[in-house]
Amino acid sequence: AQTEQSVDDRLLKICEILEENISYYNWVGFYFKNGDKNELKLGPYVGEPTDHVIIPFGKGICGQVAVSNENFVVPDVAAQDNYIACSISVKAEIVIPIFVNGENVGQIDIDSGTPDPFTEADERFLEFICKEVAGIMA
Ligand code: SME
Repeated sequence: AQTEQSVDDRLLKICEILEENISYYNWVGFYFKNGDKNELKLGPYVGEPTDHVIIPFGKGICGQVAVSNENFVVPDVAAQDNYIACSISVKAEIVIPIFVNGENVGQIDIDSGTPDPFTEADERFLEFICKEVAGIMA
């Protein structure tokens, strides 16, 4: 009989595949809305451990996406004033929201050690990944 993988196992696998196959994806993780609180909670991820397990809505790149419902591509993190640094090796970041039944339930967050690496192709690709994730979660 086939063992059913948990949602977290499947999300972790997605992180692993992305980090292993795309050279400039160096930290890949998910944040999700934490119950009915106005904050995000870290989900499955690969890369350096982060202190930022809880992020209030509005704070940092992730917290801004939680309220804007829009993709956020940051070519140079040093140029952002509302940014939460996880590691000094991070040069750029991309955050794409995940919608379930039209509601912004969380996001995929990717950090890169390469300056300005993300193109519209990354946005379209990660939007596709986020739709697949929404299907896993629904
Ligand atoms: N840099 C993010 C915080 C999360 S870490 O990148 C894992 C931000 O500014 O929201």
